[in-house]
Amino acid sequence: MKKLAITFFCLAALQGQAQFRLSRADSLRMDSINKLTQQDYKNMLQQLGITATRPGPSGNPQAPNAANSDETKATPYTTLPDPLTLKNGQKVANAKSWWEKRRPEIVEEFDREIYGRVPANVPGVKWEMASVSNDTVGSIKAVTKRLIGHVDNSSHPAIKVDIQLTLTTPAEARGPVPVMMEFGFQFPAGFRLPASMQTPGPTWQEQVLAKGWGYAILVPTSYQADNGAGLTQGIIGLVNRGQPRKPDDWGTLKAWAWGASRALDYFETDKAVDAKRVGIEGLSRYGKAALVAMAYEPRFAIGFIGSSGAGGAKILRRVFGEQVENLASSGEYHWFAGNFIKYAGPLTPNDLPVDAHELIALCAPRPVFISVGSPTVEGQWIDAKGMFIAGVHAGPVYRLLGKKDLGVTEMPPQEVALLNGDIAWRQHSGGHTTGPNWPTFLQFAERYWKR
Ligand code: GCU
Repeated sequence: MKKLAITFFCLAALQGQAQFRLSRADSLRMDSINKLTQQDYKNMLQQLGITATRPGPSGNPQAPNAANSDETKATPYTTLPDPLTLKNGQKVANAKSWWEKRRPEIVEEFDREIYGRVPANVPGVKWEMASVSNDTVGSIKAVTKRLIGHVDNSSHPAIKVDIQLTLTTPAEARGPVPVMMEFGFQFPAGFRLPASMQTPGPTWQEQVLAKGWGYAILVPTSYQADNGAGLTQGIIGLVNRGQPRKPDDWGTLKAWAWGASRALDYFETDKAVDAKRVGIEGLSRYGKAALVAMAYEPRFAIGFIGSSGAGGAKILRRVFGEQVENLASSGEYHWFAGNFIKYAGPLTPNDLPVDAHELIALCAPRPVFISVGSPTVEGQWIDAKGMFIAGVHAGPVYRLLGKKDLGVTEMPPQEVALLNGDIAWRQHSGGHTTGPNWPTFLQFAERYWKR
């Protein structure tokens, strides 16, 4: 399974490079995953009583059915759900009413219709310290702990779940340090990212250590696979005893976020970490997971949300780039609750009771940095403007809670950062990576985490 996860990553990393070939064994495993995914998807459609869904547009800009990337055709929606109007029509006038009435309403709608509910009986996790090593990262002496979170599987021993986490802190720290945790990968020894995916200069890990902070890498696929076949395994399958999900059960993004909360539980027990200053970062599908983790877990102090696009920080009602129809297809539905598929037929994105600005609003009053790459290098699938607009419309909730919004309503040019509010923004000039935005994010985080 581990090898397959790495293979999938390599596949994504090397997409489009002709020299990459799957081995026969891996291609057989992928066939079987695809088959099981189709079965699970069909099962969910049956539970929902859906016979057909609308297909999504293509991510290939050359394809005849390419996703829209023309701003003039982008916005047929007329209204967004108002984060500050209760379902009974009353306005939310103060923080108390936000926390006690409106926020729970929004959480319920995201739970039921989009990301699914975390079951009440998720088993506990016991953290084992597998190894401790002294490293030098760049030129900084550091201590790396490799941790394994063993999930209690006594309710269904056929499914075993172990969470992979590493924590690296400066060796010479004089007390507990803030930590940035990334949803990421553990690479095999000697693995190198292709040059096109590397950012010149110090790595993000070196930059974090240079501030005197630590970093952690959590491997989401170690506890929940990134496909529909995996829904009857991993932490979701363990809780369901290997049976398919119900329509409002949690999807993979929510399960990945659950793991991030368990990592935080560990940090609260580790004297090297200041658990009140732990942030979460991720890119793309892991950017979606980082935003979900930040929205649902109040102990995360800051979020760095990289190119999360549809299903993350992008307004789902916007006809630009990736669409709900893509997310609800058999390749991506597992990220969400089964119920979400309804919005690709018979319902439409305009029927969604909530939209992405409200997911950002759930992070309030805590700081969130929305990151994206260049439209010409990263492409338009991500929909930078759709994420910017969501940041703008989360603003009223931040203001209600005494915090600052983005500060502007027009998207600034590439490489112009918005850092003065508690929602921050920067579009860098690189591709599908958070790499070039790390220095700017750290500058933002430093406002909150001064030594
Ligand atoms: C696909 C998918 C996106 C996702 C991305 C990724 O492009 O459509 O929603 O963010 O993969 O995670 O790399």
